[in-house]
Amino acid sequence: MSSPTRQIHLAAHFPGVNNTTVWSDPRSGSHIAFESFVHFARTAERAKFDFLFLAEGLRLREQRGRIHDLDVVGRPDTFTVLAALAAVTDRLGLAGTINSTFNEPYEVARQFASLDHLSDGRAAWNVVTSWDAFTGENFRRGGFLAEEQRYERAELFLRTASELFDSWRGDEIVADKESGVFLADAKAGAFEHHDAHFDISGQFTVPRSPQGRPVIFQAGDSDAGREFAARSADAIFSRHSTFDAGQAFHADVKRRLARYGRAPEDLLVLPAATFVLGDTDAQARERAEEVRRQQVSGATAIQFLEQVWNRDLGDHDPDGPLPEVDPVPGENTVAQGRASVRMYEDRLATARRWREIAEAGKLTTRELVIEVTGRQAFVGSPATVADTINRFVQARAADGFILVPHITPAGLDEFADTVVPLLQERGVFRADYTGTTLRDHLGLAPVPGWPVHAV
Ligand SMILES: Cc1cc2nc3c(=O)[nH]c(=O)nc-3n(C[C@H](O)[C@H](O)[C@H](O)COP(=O)(O)O)c2cc1C
Repeated sequence: MSSPTRQIHLAAHFPGVNNTTVWSDPRSGSHIAFESFVHFARTAERAKFDFLFLAEGLRLREQRGRIHDLDVVGRPDTFTVLAALAAVTDRLGLAGTINSTFNEPYEVARQFASLDHLSDGRAAWNVVTSWDAFTGENFRRGGFLAEEQRYERAELFLRTASELFDSWRGDEIVADKESGVFLADAKAGAFEHHDAHFDISGQFTVPRSPQGRPVIFQAGDSDAGREFAARSADAIFSRHSTFDAGQAFHADVKRRLARYGRAPEDLLVLPAATFVLGDTDAQARERAEEVRRQQVSGATAIQFLEQVWNRDLGDHDPDGPLPEVDPVPGENTVAQGRASVRMYEDRLATARRWREIAEAGKLTTRELVIEVTGRQAFVGSPATVADTINRFVQARAADGFILVPHITPAGLDEFADTVVPLLQERGVFRADYTGTTLRDHLGLAPVPGWPVHAV
């Protein structure tokens, strides 16, 4: 017996701060102006996407003590942007990445509960821990925690925030004008929480929000991160967008759910995915190569090289061979605040591998960096991309994708106009929203005990 066709979830990652964003393209606009966010959100909503996603960076990343065009500079505050977007959209989910290492549960719970109210039930919180002390320096306590403590704090942070979301049952406000009774329970919102990280009590200011609680996302990749997702998240934002890595990751995190009494459909796996479209597959491949050249200029290639080599290579010719010197092992003193730096932790081994690839393909430094960093996940005609995405989801390499265009703000338009209708024709993506909340779009079970009168 064949299993039922799985429905695809799609979301839109606002481009912005990373080196895949091509700011130099003539079509590129502001990463900060509200009109960019509005254009992007409206395209995602027109295409019936599940949600818009904002990543977060709390400190501008540096290399050799300077910021540079490897990162498109500037990231406005998440809550301010999402609250503004709630006013110009109707159904689109609004997901914000907010750190549990540097913030306080009361404040974050209040902000997300407010966003859930303002958007009529469309808020999601991507709980991240951040891995570097460099980011922590922005905060008043120096604010950095060892790895095991970061997830311990994340778990307790989320538990505390959930207690605050649940502190209003949801039936306390009666507002009976005849009897003059506004509140049926003067203890509404009362909370008291004491653990190793938080010692708080009081009454929460925001009544029960439309989704009961915002949807919870997680984005860490370590064992502790995956465990945290299995225990507490509704969806996981992953890096594993290739077929084999996607299937392995999907199976791994779904397997962990049973330990917490949860079913496979209780946690969605949504990898980040880039794409390049063309009228034909050949044209898309050509475009994709051009995009890679735009993403990795000569100067950018040197910046990447320095992250692995951990030394100043400012004088190296990007159009020549890789440097003859080896990387400097030990702590990375050249690049600060970049997650990718961790991926090259065994720098000597990475350099050896890169040299082999460069020699085999007779590649210059720039060509090598183009080859080994960030290929686009989906390249092809709209029909090819629609078929590939569908194949990945049916084969459980993902439950859907968080698409990351390389142009701001119009980089999603072509996908919305050409790929989405094909997915709809194939019956694997919604033709229209069937619910009003993000929880509805994602097909998640209601929060236990909410709504109060549910049978
Ligand atoms: C796909 C993906 C996207 C992420 N996006 C962000 C982000 O926007 N902001 C952030 O502070 N951290 C982000 N992170 C990293 C998180 O801070 C995560 O908590 C960190 O990687 C440490 O957890 P880990 O050791 O489990 O990977 C992301 C991680 C992944 C895998």
